[in-house]
Amino acid sequence: MKNSIGIETHHADTLVIKLNDLLANYMVFYQNARGFHWNIKGEKFFELHLKFEELYNNLLLKVDEVAERILTLGGVPLHTFSDYTSVSSLRALSNITDARESVQALLDAFQVLILKQRELLDISSEAGDEGTNALMSDYIREQEKQVWMYSAYIKT
Ligand SMILES: [Fe+2]
Repeated sequence: MKNSIGIETHHADTLVIKLNDLLANYMVFYQNARGFHWNIKGEKFFELHLKFEELYNNLLLKVDEVAERILTLGGVPLHTFSDYTSVSSLRALSNITDARESVQALLDAFQVLILKQRELLDISSEAGDEGTNALMSDYIREQEKQVWMYSAYIKT
């Protein structure tokens, strides 16, 4: 049986579960990035304070896109903090003030997101879900570049 946008319902159900998992991870990462923005200390303060703001704004756009993709597929996006923290594999981080430690934490988070999005890409390809597929490949390409740049930044 196909749903209203022509995707097999069993595929759509799997995609909704995986996208909700991704959404939860984005929300935890978003809040962690706000913490990095607020708590950063030291001589890199001005550049990283700004950079982390750019990051959390970008993550928030993706949160909305992922949630609305879930609705488009016929699902309900997770929307409570308790759901996010229980589903997310990224953990809430507190009191990180060091530049290198903040950047390393966000590199670790990007790796988790990229792996989850590659997995989603496989599922959306099999489902013929071009909408989710295009979204995931955009995110992967963009974040791989972020990983390169943040890695270069902390190389000594
Ligand atoms: Fe701010």
